This record gives sequence, structure tokens and C-alpha cells, in this order.
Amino acid sequence: MSDVVTLSVSDRIATVTINSPPVNAADHPVRLGLQKAFTGLAGRTDFDAVVVLCAGRTFMAGADIGEFDTGIAAPHHQDLFNLVESCAKPVVAALHGTALGAGTELAIACHYRVADKGARIGLPELTLGIIPGAGGSQRMPRLIGLDAAADLILSSKPLPAAKALELGLVDEIADGDVAAAALALARKLAAEGAGPRRTRDMAVKDGGKAAEIIAARRAQVAKTMRNRTSPVKLLEALAGSASLSFEEGLKLESDISKQLEQATEARALRHLFFADREVRKIPGIGPDLKARPIRKVGIIGAGTMGGGIAMCFANIGTPVTIVDTAQANLDRGLGVIRKNYERSVSRGSMTAEQLEQRVGLIGASLDYASLSDVDLVIEAVFEKMELKKEIFAKLDAVLPAGAILGTNTSTLDIDEIAKVTKRPADVIGLHFFSPANVMPLLEIVQAAKTAPDVLLTALDMAKAIKKTGVVSKVCYGFIGNRMMDPYGREAEHMVLEGATPEQVDGALEEFGMAMGILAVYDMAGIEVGHNTRLANPHMVPDDAGFYRCSTILTERGWLGQKSGRGYYRYDSPDRKRASDPEVIAIMHEEGKRLGISPRAPSKQEIQERCLYSMINEGAKLLQEGIALRASDIDVVYTAGYGYPRYRGGPMFYADTVGLKVIYDRILEFKKTLDPQYWTPAPLLEELALKGSTFAAWDAGNRK
Ligand SMILES: NC(=O)c1ccc[n+]([C@@H]2O[C@H](COP(=O)([O-])OP(=O)(O)OC[C@H]3O[C@@H](n4cnc5c(N)ncnc54)[C@H](O)[C@@H]3O)[C@@H](O)[C@H]2O)c1
Repeated sequence: MSDVVTLSVSDRIATVTINSPPVNAADHPVRLGLQKAFTGLAGRTDFDAVVVLCAGRTFMAGADIGEFDTGIAAPHHQDLFNLVESCAKPVVAALHGTALGAGTELAIACHYRVADKGARIGLPELTLGIIPGAGGSQRMPRLIGLDAAADLILSSKPLPAAKALELGLVDEIADGDVAAAALALARKLAAEGAGPRRTRDMAVKDGGKAAEIIAARRAQVAKTMRNRTSPVKLLEALAGSASLSFEEGLKLESDISKQLEQATEARALRHLFFADREVRKIPGIGPDLKARPIRKVGIIGAGTMGGGIAMCFANIGTPVTIVDTAQANLDRGLGVIRKNYERSVSRGSMTAEQLEQRVGLIGASLDYASLSDVDLVIEAVFEKMELKKEIFAKLDAVLPAGAILGTNTSTLDIDEIAKVTKRPADVIGLHFFSPANVMPLLEIVQAAKTAPDVLLTALDMAKAIKKTGVVSKVCYGFIGNRMMDPYGREAEHMVLEGATPEQVDGALEEFGMAMGILAVYDMAGIEVGHNTRLANPHMVPDDAGFYRCSTILTERGWLGQKSGRGYYRYDSPDRKRASDPEVIAIMHEEGKRLGISPRAPSKQEIQERCLYSMINEGAKLLQEGIALRASDIDVVYTAGYGYPRYRGGPMFYADTVGLKVIYDRILEFKKTLDPQYWTPAPLLEELALKGSTFAAWDAGNRK
């Protein structure tokens, strides 16, 4: 018998146990083991029912994602689960933990399902750009109905056991030991002399309304999952469950799966799946390095960021003390925090007790001495170097030895801040994104002297507060904002040239960005970028058109949503953005005044100028060593900047377009646009000319 799958028969009940930590994924050894077990059972008569269960913390929680790139060796999941379903005696699955993907497909190929009350069951394949390819698209509608199956798979969210019971996805919920409950059901079925109850023999109960259901779901997909192929193909497969025989349906599922697995969307999503894990691999951080404990946290500044960051820690039960300069600032900050939590309570995502508990973990003080026992401080005061230096000197005087001094600065030189302390090795950048309690990205900025264990602690802390921590070295804007600079510059400039904000944002949103950049500026406040440029004149090029629109809007006090107008107007009752002819006329006039030749950039040009300038900057970041990997940049952009995951992030996208294509286009722009912005980064040039990719560059560095 295989190591990972065992078969035992006792009292005429066969038990097939999968034991392949950590999550019992349906990898090749597990499939071989299951095949052997069920082929073995087919030749035996000494049992009347079968229980399938998994050891460890969960039922099978998916497939082996690496196999999609290397090729899936036989037995294929679909054939294997057909074998399980074909068993002549009733097969009962015992579900605990999270049954996901192939795990759920195995469960529904079994004849009965008993779930632990904490179990969750889902088919999240679309998050990988594929559809359930092991019978799931054909069995799930037969089991719970077409509409419910569409809902489950389109959402990619696992169902709690109680909901699964309600839908008929599971037969029983076990109050205690799920394996014992499954065994009891198997015994009962055996005693009754029950035969198999195969999902494939069931009719799709709402199959008569398939045309309407699929049409409604298609409309939903067109609206909410723009540019995606896998959801469209999923609906094709689901429709097949109602119109085709089971065998034909499986064939359709398998044909679609094969197409999708190697398509760009799935490759992009797999790339990010691995990239999200790779961010923790940092030179100098070996397996023996120990992180420092974070038991208590201090925050300096009770403003927008300080408050959000405090919530991140309170949410995981870590006590926080916020220090500000005046009681009124503290009161206002704590008030905002309470309001945010109250919103969660009214939405039902948090109880009133949890609110009190979390608020109770957040203390406030005017005195730095109250930080004498914290393990970590995160400074989030105004973006002024002198102020930050003053605060770090004060922190240096009061913090215990070994405490970590973090700054949330967006633009300032962390090495310079670290110099005012006697412990620069303990200083690090912790760049949160607004709203800090919501945004999943944390840029961890490694300064010249940051100690490896401080970096490791920051990575662990990011994970603890459920954020993706990506390491950047020190530079103006770090990874994310530095790449945003050329992207926004082009977007704004095109408005001076004659495009409308809608055309620019529309083209970017059509590409898949969560929001066009000009609308983002309106949301964040147009003055934010403007003030940063004022404070950093050395970063502003000799170009009268550089972020000129932002300057004009800021000077007029049209700061975006908060002032009711910015690039757009926001004065309709629904506060949706609306075109502002006055702003458009002002900008076009300004363009002419500056001698910018008017042009009407096409959708393609808008996308290329914004996205390629960003990629070019990304190549510079790699060459300068600011970002460790192209895949890290992709994580930053998909986690923090609304870049579409299904395109894999800017650097993966560049590889799919072809670096030579991008390089050539940049050279063309160099001829027709401002050449100071359009010189290919040396790394982009090198890779483009030798026909290479950023992925290959990453792989070369990994060796
Ligand atoms: N707002 C964002 O979107 C964003 C995003 C990332 C990073 N950041 C950075 O975070 C930092 C804070 O930004 P914010 O938007 O939260 O600012 P904010 O103006 O909302 O809050 C700053 C707070 O710091 C307090 N403060 C000022 N001097 C202080 C001192 N000496 N001691 C203690 N408290 C003091 C102020 O009273 C205020 O409550 C800045 O460095 C900013 O660049 C901001």
C-alpha cells in the first residue's frame, strides 16, 4: 500500500485514509494511492460500505498547483474520481477543515458526505483561472442545482457546513468526531443493504430553467469579471451538465480545462500564487534566524494611518498605545477607530462585544514614556523629515533594548531617519496603504543597516496582521509609488494633450485596473501628490507639463471627491463621478498654452503609455536592487494598487506582451513624445534584445 493512502477493512466496513500533510492535496502520490485503494476494493467482497477520510488538520484542500506546469500524470483526477464513484458499495466521505477544489470534487464523487460542524467546502478554481476539472462542473449542479453550483463556483468562496447541509451538498453534520459519524452512517447503510448513490445518476433539479439561469449568470460575469475567460467557460461547462449526458459533460469539462490550464489567465494566476509565497525568501534570512516577539505595539500619530494601523494589531489581540501631541487629536483618532468598528458591527461582520474588546486594546497617551515596554513602534506622523528625526531621537531615549522602530513614511530616506538613533539596526520602514486596516499590502523597507532579524520580524508581523509583506530597499517612493509616478504622469499628460479623464480612466479600467488613476487621485485627494512634489523639488523634472493638471486642480481647491469636484464632478445624488466639461476645457487650453501639440490618444496608446512606462520603471528597480524579484513587483501591484490579478502583475504582463515589443514601442515613444521619459531601462533593453523575460531573470537569480 502507498504511504499516503491506506486501506483497512474491519467489521465489513472499508476505510480509505489519506495522510499527506500539510493539506492532503491531490498530488500524484495521493492519486496513485487512491487508485490502488479503489482498484483493490473493486476486487473484494469482504466489505459493505466505505469511509473516505483524511488525517491531519483538513480534508483534501486542493490539487498540486505545480503540476499544471509540469503536466498532470495519470491517473487524472477525473478518471480517479469516476473510479471512486463507480464503487459498488456506498462510499461515505468524512469532511473536516476545508475541502477545496479537488477535495470537494472527491467528496461529491463519494455517495454520501458527513461534515464536521466547522468544515468549509468550496470550489475556488476560478482564482487560478481554471474550472473544476475533476467532475465538479458536472456533479455539483446534479447535487445542489445549477444556480447554486454557479453561485458557489463563481464566488470561489467556501460554504460553511450548515449552508452545505441546507443545499444538500452534505447529508449530515457531525457534532463530535466526524470520522466516527461517517463510520456510523456507513454501518447504517451497510445494515440496510444500501447500494451506491451516485451523483452522476442524479438529475439537475433546476435543469429545466438552465437557459435563463445561464443567461443571468453570463450577464453577471460580463459585469463583474471583465476580461476573464475562465468564468465564461465555466458557464459553458455548467450548461452542459443540464443538456448533455454525464459522460459528454465530463468530456466537455476536460476539453475546457485543458484549454484554460495553459492559457495566459491561468498562468498569470499561478504565477501570483507562487509569487505571493516567494516574497518571504530573502537573502540573509535563513531557517535558523529567530524573529523577535511582538507583544505590545506603540503608534505615533493618531491620524488616518496611525488609526488604521492600530486597528490591524487590535484585530489580532495585540495591545497598542497611540501617542499624539494633543488630547483632541487622540480623541478624534479613537473616535474614527470606533466608528470604523461600528460600521463592521452594523454590517454584521463583528459583534458588539468584539468591538469593545478591540477598542479596549487600544490605549492613548500624550507621553512617550508610556512606550517604555513596547516591542515595536510604528511612526505615522506628518511627512516631514525634521519631525520624524525628532520623534526617532525621542523613541531612542525611551524604548527598551531590542524594540523595533518602524516608520510609515512614503517618501523619506529611512537611512537618514535611522542615523539619529543609536540603534539603526532596529530601524525599518513599514509602509502601509490606506485604509491601513483594509489594504492587504505592506511594503517592508529594508534600510542600509536594518538587521536581518528585524526584517524577519516585520515579515512575520505582516503575516500575523494578515497582510502580504514585500521587501523593498530604500528609494524615493519604494517599489509601488515609484512605479506609479510615470504611470500617473502619462495619464495626466494625455489630458493636457486632448484626452478626457473618462477616456484615460476608461482605457485603464478596460485593461482591468480596479480604478482609473485620475479617479484614484480624486479619491485620495489631488493635493497629496502635489504637496509631495512641492516638498521634493529635486524629484521634479524640467517639464512644465509634469503633473500640471494636479497643480491646476489643487490651486483651484478642486481636490477630488472631498471637494465635490476634481478631475470629475461628484455632485449627483449617487456621488458617482461625472464628466466635467469645464475641467476638460481648462486642461486642453493649458495644453495649448504650454505648446503641447494636441493629439487624441487611442485607447491602445493610453494603455501602452501608462503601462509600459510603469514596466520600464520596474526594470530600473530590479537593476538597482530596490526590488529583489520581478515577481515581488507583481505582488505589490496586485495586492496594493488594484492591478488585475488575472494579468499576473505588471512584470508578468510585460513577459506576456513580449519585452521586445515593449522595448520597440518605448523607442517609438522616444521619437514622438518627451524623450527624457522614454529611454528603455538597460535591463529591459538587455532582456528584450536577447529574447528573454523577467521570469527568466528571476529564475537566474534564484540559482
Ligand atoms: N494617508 C495615506 O494614504 C498614507 C499612505 C501611506 C503612508 N502615509 C504616511 O503616513 C504618515 C502619516 O500620514 P497620515 O495620512 O496618517 O497623516 P495625518 O495627518 O492623518 O496624521 C498625522 C498625525 O500625526 C500627529 N502628529 C504630528 N506630530 C506629532 C508628534 N510630534 N508626535 C505625535 N503625533 C504627531 C498629528 O496630530 C496627526 O494626528 C505620513 O508619513 C504619510 O506619508 C500616508
